[in-house]
Amino acid sequence: MTQIRAKITGTGKFLPDHVMTNHDLEKLVDTNDEWIQTRTGIVERRILKDPDKGTSNLATEAAKKALEDADVDAADIDAIIVATVTPDYFFPATACLVQKRIGAKKAFAFDLSAACSGFLYALTTGGNMIESGRAKKVLVIGADKMSSILNYEDRTTCILFGDGGGAVVLEATEEEAGIIDYVHYTEGDEDCALYMPGGGSKHPATAETVAQGLHYLRQDGRAIFKKAIHGMADVSLEIMERNDLTSDDVAWLVPHQANLRIIDATANRMGVSKDKVMINISHYGNTTSGTIPLCLDDWKDQLNKGDNLVLSAFGGGLTWGSIYLKWAI
Ligand code: COA
Repeated sequence: MTQIRAKITGTGKFLPDHVMTNHDLEKLVDTNDEWIQTRTGIVERRILKDPDKGTSNLATEAAKKALEDADVDAADIDAIIVATVTPDYFFPATACLVQKRIGAKKAFAFDLSAACSGFLYALTTGGNMIESGRAKKVLVIGADKMSSILNYEDRTTCILFGDGGGAVVLEATEEEAGIIDYVHYTEGDEDCALYMPGGGSKHPATAETVAQGLHYLRQDGRAIFKKAIHGMADVSLEIMERNDLTSDDVAWLVPHQANLRIIDATANRMGVSKDKVMINISHYGNTTSGTIPLCLDDWKDQLNKGDNLVLSAFGGGLTWGSIYLKWAI
C-alpha cells in the first residue's frame, strides 16, 4: 500500500508593525544593547500594541497568507491546529476563532500547548492526521503574543521575547516527500524553571495574584540554557542518525530562535555550516510558537524541492524535538 505523507504546500506569516529595539528596552530596565546582542543575538522584536488584539489576530493573518500561498480554499481545510501559550482566552480555543474568521466551515479546530516546541508538536499532530488518511488538508499555525505575559520591569525575561505568528498548509501526498520522521520528548518541569505561575486553576486570577506578579512569565535562564543547549543538539543528531543523514545531506537547519548561542551550538554539533541555518532572531526575538514557521516563510524563496530540512526546538514543559522533512514544492 502506498504510504501517504503530509507535505507543506504553503506558508504565511504575520508580524505586528511596532518595532521595539534594544535601545527602547534600555529605557525600561537596567540593560544595554551590547549585553542583549552578545548574550542572545537579539537586536529588536515586534510588539502587538493594539489592546483589542490577541494571538488570534496574528494567527488569522498568517493563516490567510498560507492559504493564499498554497492556493487552497479555507472551506477545504479539514483541521486547524494553533500552537500557542498565549491564547486569547482559556476557551474558546484560539483555533476556533481562526476557523470562524477564515471561513473554514468543515474544519475542526483546537489549540495545542507545548511552549517553544508547540509548532513542532502541532506539525507532527497535523501530519499524523493526514498520514492516517482521515484528513487531506490541515492548517498548522504557531503564534504568540508574548508581550501579554512579560514583565517589562524584569530584565532577565522581557528582552528575550517578541510577538508574531506563522502558518503552514499541510496536504496529503504519495511522494517520498514532506514529513519523513519526528522525535519528540517531554520532561515535566516540576522545578518550574520556565512557567507562568498565575491564571490557571492552581492560582486563579485575584487581586493578590496580580499584585504578586504571578501572571508574568518566569524563567531560570541559566538552567534552561543548559538543558536547551544539550537537548536541541542531541535531538537534532538523533533525527539525523535515525535517517542516515550526514551534515552534507542537510540543506537547512530550522531551529527555534531562543538564543543565538543555542542555535550555533546545535549547528556545530550537527556539523552544519552557518550558511545553512535559518536565523532571524535578531529581528523578531523569541516568538515562542511562531519562530519556526516564521523562518520557513522568510526562507521559502531559497528552498528547493527535495531539500532536507531538520526542524528543532526546545522549550517550556520541558518539551523538545526534531522533525525531518523533505521540502516538496
Ligand atoms: N541586561 C544586562 N544584564 C543582565 C540582563 C540584561 N537584560 N539579564 C541578566 N543580566 C545579568 C545577570 O544579572 C547576571 O549578572 P551577575 O553576573 O552580576 O549575577 C549576568 O547578566 C549574567 O546572567 P546570566 O543569567 O548568567 O546570563 P546568561 O549568559 O545565562 O544569559 C539568558 C541569560 C536568559 C540570555 C540565557 O540564560 C538564555 O538564553 N537562557 C535560555 C533561554 C531559553 O532558551 N528560553 C526559553 C526556551 S524557549
